[in-house]
Amino acid sequence: MPVPKAELHLHIEGTLEPELAFALAARNGVTLPYADTDALRAAYSFGDLQSFLDLYYNLMAVLRTAEDFTELADAYLERAAAQGVRHAEIFFDPQAHTARGVPIGTVIEGLGASLDRAEERYGISTRLILCFLRDESAESALATLDAAKPYLHRITGVGLDSAEVGHPPAKFREVYEEAARLGLRRVAHAGEEGPAAYVREALDVLGAERIDHGLRCMEDPELVDRLARERIPLTVCPFSNVRLRVVDTLADHPLPAMMAAGLLVTVNSDDPAYFGGYAGDNFDGIRDALGLAPEQLRELARNSFRASFLEDDEARRAR
Ligand code: ADE
Ligand code: ZN
Repeated sequence: MPVPKAELHLHIEGTLEPELAFALAARNGVTLPYADTDALRAAYSFGDLQSFLDLYYNLMAVLRTAEDFTELADAYLERAAAQGVRHAEIFFDPQAHTARGVPIGTVIEGLGASLDRAEERYGISTRLILCFLRDESAESALATLDAAKPYLHRITGVGLDSAEVGHPPAKFREVYEEAARLGLRRVAHAGEEGPAAYVREALDVLGAERIDHGLRCMEDPELVDRLARERIPLTVCPFSNVRLRVVDTLADHPLPAMMAAGLLVTVNSDDPAYFGGYAGDNFDGIRDALGLAPEQLRELARNSFRASFLEDDEARRAR
């Protein structure tokens, strides 16, 4: 039995497996520029974050109807349940869909139809986190939050993702202030490819309660002390970091150093269809490559519930 865990860094669009992509393409009359699933998988060799994002956004062309989003989330939840995930806080990228003419309501209602049944079908509690694309404008982020207002009952928080370097968190101060006024929780990707200063800015300017990735905080000892002292969770994604060349190999991953520094780190899959595995695979991978002891793996699993947005007693039940 895999250890029970919460997944806190998971882009639902990043769970689009090649087989489902081709099935949806056929259903929706979309032509993909790949002969078959093997040819698509063969393209999953990334030099950096941007080279991944280019393929990731292009493949989303197959997602058109609410049912497509429901199937996508169902497929993720089924795989996650088999790997011990009991709670999932799921990111989605509305601007990547509205830009293609898919209304935000189609995306949210489609995902919502799956999440509504997730406890009963898969034994997984869920939360939905709306992410702003940081390489789009601040105005576009504000318009996206505005368009989401009829669906806020389905949304727990906001996040910030996509190409990091050159798009510092401060660009999104206003939309995060508005999100806070609306009672939404706040997280942000920072310190994946971008510098430690972006992690500070996400905390100080955006009021981020959790940092997604955050690896590059390790270059700034004062920041590490602060993150440890304030118990700010970092949602680390080991397979992603290797595939996007943020670290050279799994054996070089700074996760043990992060744990030793007293950081509240969790292990997550980011975009599992692209990076070679789901949450449990990431746990197995770091166990094998980094020689983590069973107690360290249990600590990571405990951290995942502590760092979640589940209410305290709910979190205890989920474990
Ligand atoms: N969107 C999907 N995966 C991402 C990642 N690893 N970093 C930034 N944006 C993303
Ligand atoms: Zn991510």
